[in-house]
Amino acid sequence: MKVTITGAGYVGLVTGACLAERGHEVVCFDIDSEKIEQLQRGEPPIYEPGLKELIEKNIKAGRLHFTTNCKEAYRQRDVIVLAVGTPEKEDGSPNLSYLKKAVDDMACHITQNCVVVTKSTVPPGTNEKISYWIHSKKSPALNVEVVSCPEFLREGSAIYDTFHGDRIVIGAASKEAGDLIQEMYKDFHVPVVRTDIRSAEMIKYASNAFLAAKISFINEIAAICERVGADVEEVAAGMGLDKRIGPQFLKAGIGYGGSCFPKDTKALHHIAEKVSCRFEILEAVMNVNDSQSEVLMNKARTHMGSLRNKKAALLGLAFKPGTDDIRESQAIKLAKALIHEGANVHVYDPVAMENAEKELGNSVVYSGSMGEALLDAEAAFIATDWEEITEFPLSNYKLLMKKPIIFDGRNCLQMEKIQKNDLTYLPIGRRGCISPII
Ligand SMILES: NC(=O)c1ccc[n+]([C@@H]2O[C@H](COP(=O)([O-])OP(=O)(O)OC[C@H]3O[C@@H](n4cnc5c(N)ncnc54)[C@H](O)[C@@H]3O)[C@@H](O)[C@H]2O)c1
Repeated sequence: MKVTITGAGYVGLVTGACLAERGHEVVCFDIDSEKIEQLQRGEPPIYEPGLKELIEKNIKAGRLHFTTNCKEAYRQRDVIVLAVGTPEKEDGSPNLSYLKKAVDDMACHITQNCVVVTKSTVPPGTNEKISYWIHSKKSPALNVEVVSCPEFLREGSAIYDTFHGDRIVIGAASKEAGDLIQEMYKDFHVPVVRTDIRSAEMIKYASNAFLAAKISFINEIAAICERVGADVEEVAAGMGLDKRIGPQFLKAGIGYGGSCFPKDTKALHHIAEKVSCRFEILEAVMNVNDSQSEVLMNKARTHMGSLRNKKAALLGLAFKPGTDDIRESQAIKLAKALIHEGANVHVYDPVAMENAEKELGNSVVYSGSMGEALLDAEAAFIATDWEEITEFPLSNYKLLMKKPIIFDGRNCLQMEKIQKNDLTYLPIGRRGCISPII
């Protein structure tokens, strides 16, 4: 099929490259000309494992193109996929202005009957609005239907997720439009769920809110574990074996971040409020997450006293491993809290340093390696569990640091190894190891 992707960001680029890989003829359209020029050279503007190779391969095969030209992007397309951002507004509701602008630009350039698919995360009723926006601009002779197909990929494993997802949700008003999108995905061999449009829109928010709830739940359990002398990692492992619960998203730490969970939980809360439903569980989920990075800071204050003028190594800046995305990253929040306490913060991340610099400027020192960040540091804070960080030899902490104290915000180091290396280790909800020198 001839497919256009509108918005060449994390979702749009991965979707476009994967559809091209399955034989579709794909054009990615974006208003960011710098991004498009980079992509035309085969260089992805974001870090996502396997994406560069997939883009290069499909550009070469002539199935993947990039443009900033509306006329070129929307001429003779079977499917148009909307993947522009829907960031949160001050009141927690999603900002639909990027979507509106993208739809307005697109509608007047459509030249044949087609289906418009919304991958952007939007509140129930938005696809009906999109349909209205399109119909007020497009040529009356054309038949354009709108289908909701929310995206579930995870940054860091986005390509794997696209080819091996748990489900593809297709919410359509007409059977024909839904069938066309199911046909587009036929070579992905991912189970398809067909629903009405509003249910599809709700599935996305309900799924993300539920996953966020699992994280805040285990973080609350971690706080209790610390006080009763239990180990949250053992508790989570035991809980996760129950198939009704499952092991995923039961990882205690400094809380969830990223471009989706914080914004989507707020948006769902706003949606509920608008229809006079008080979503009390979700309020608690968000409150727990908001204060979760403080848990690590409190440990630092208790065990080190003042952090003023002390060198602190902050390991990891991305909101999770496998991505350069720092949107709503708890690591950035932690960096700001450490700066606020007067610490000299030296940061390291394998791929997110450039993005972090845009946010943190010269308030921190950017280290070229983990070793450089740790050298002469009085405390190490682990904020992202990159393999490079979890596999870093523990003996080096002792060799490099002034005082080998590790505050592990991701519970990602092995207790037995910590004990063997005689380090002071303060994780979240685990017994930890506190050396008598402090
Ligand atoms: N990132 C994720 O992991 C993820 C997962 C599932 C769903 N989503 C949802 O998908 C949507 C996109 O998220 P993202 O992370 O890919 O966003 P992003 O910010 O990475 O990308 C959005 C892109 O849209 C472009 N854009 C903005 N206005 C445009 C316009 N008028 N015309 C064409 N392009 C335009 C931007 O330049 C940018 O390249 C959001 O609604 C998000 O909630 C994201």
